[in-house]
Amino acid sequence: MRIAVLKERAPGETRVAATPETVKKFVALGAAVAIEEGAGESASVSDAAYREAGAELGSAAEVAKDADIVLGIQAPDVALLEGTKPGAWVAALFDPFGQRARVDAYAKAGVEALSMEFMPRITRAQSMDVLSSQSNLAGYKAVIAAADVYGRAFPMMMTAAGTIQAAKVFVMGVGVAGLQAIATARRLGAQVSATDVRSATKEQIQSLGAKPVFVETVAGIEGEGSGGYATEMSEEYQKAQAELVSGHIAKQDIVITTALIPGRAAPRLISEAQIATMKPGSVIFDLAVAQGGNVEGSVADQVVEKHGVKIVGYSNTAAHLAADASALFARNHYNFLSAFWDKEQGRPVLDEEIGDAVRLTRGGEIVNERLKG
Ligand code: NAI
Repeated sequence: MRIAVLKERAPGETRVAATPETVKKFVALGAAVAIEEGAGESASVSDAAYREAGAELGSAAEVAKDADIVLGIQAPDVALLEGTKPGAWVAALFDPFGQRARVDAYAKAGVEALSMEFMPRITRAQSMDVLSSQSNLAGYKAVIAAADVYGRAFPMMMTAAGTIQAAKVFVMGVGVAGLQAIATARRLGAQVSATDVRSATKEQIQSLGAKPVFVETVAGIEGEGSGGYATEMSEEYQKAQAELVSGHIAKQDIVITTALIPGRAAPRLISEAQIATMKPGSVIFDLAVAQGGNVEGSVADQVVEKHGVKIVGYSNTAAHLAADASALFARNHYNFLSAFWDKEQGRPVLDEEIGDAVRLTRGGEIVNERLKG
């Protein structure tokens, strides 16, 4: 049973899918682990550290040769999988809706694609959920990045030269990233408010010491929403939300937007007209910029200035925390495969609930329900 980890090749991708810690754990399960030379460099993991943990190092082709499972952050180009065992598994992010051609190529190559973003949101899969682990770090980083371009301080400061007011931070979208953004902004001493369409988040916002700002005139999504996910809202709701946001963001210094809808473009939450009502020097961080953006005019990896407001957003926020993001992603991979480890076969055997959810391709076909029809 051979596990291969290739160096990530997507532009701006700094993470790596295994760490010395997870290499050791896989070796303890009886697997051989092969890592491409330099794979951990951008995440501060040296080849020597992998070797010490028990991995074999080599070129991409050497590593892929006879691999049963390839672990990745972003799914590698299918050409890199040449030499892997027939029907080998590749567990990584596939962006299945956005990059359908890649899924087709995997099917054609007879490789079994396991899409880590399709991990079901069930309790026992929490420790395998890369969207959660990476969103958590992204929510933190969004606040830090916004603080960095903000020309003022976050906490209230009483100095001999006078008092500085605490920054007002508004978080839109209170999922995993939003909750961490609230907590981080609070730790930095800001006054924080937050909104979401799912009513269950109201209490979560309050429990972090922030103020919930919710549309009250039109019903939102009851409780958690299906599987913790939001759906597209009615026109009536969107109108009420726009009015509420308009009144609120004019008074904010920092806005962090995190709203996503699975399989769809991110909902537009802030228009240019609303940006124009904000104070000069305010900062908006659009965490959804890579999924179409919550903010009109946001451009990935650029600081755009509009009406004196700086709009920031990274195409890959977790990659800005390469070491921690890799450590958590690598553990998600380990937790996933080890939970299904069959001692007799010396390899993982997935069950139906999780296997069918994450498996995109098998035996030359696209087999995932979400990609059919
Ligand atoms: P997400 O990344 O899909 O979306 C981020 C947030 O944006 C969500 O809270 C969503 O309700 C909100 N949103 C969408 N449209 C909006 C709009 N028009 N206006 C305002 N907000 C909008 O969500 P995420 O962070 O992945 O998770 C959401 C929830 O799912 C979590 O709070 C958690 O309870 C649950 N979850 C459960 C897991 C498990 O049990 N294994 C794993 C991950 C999340």
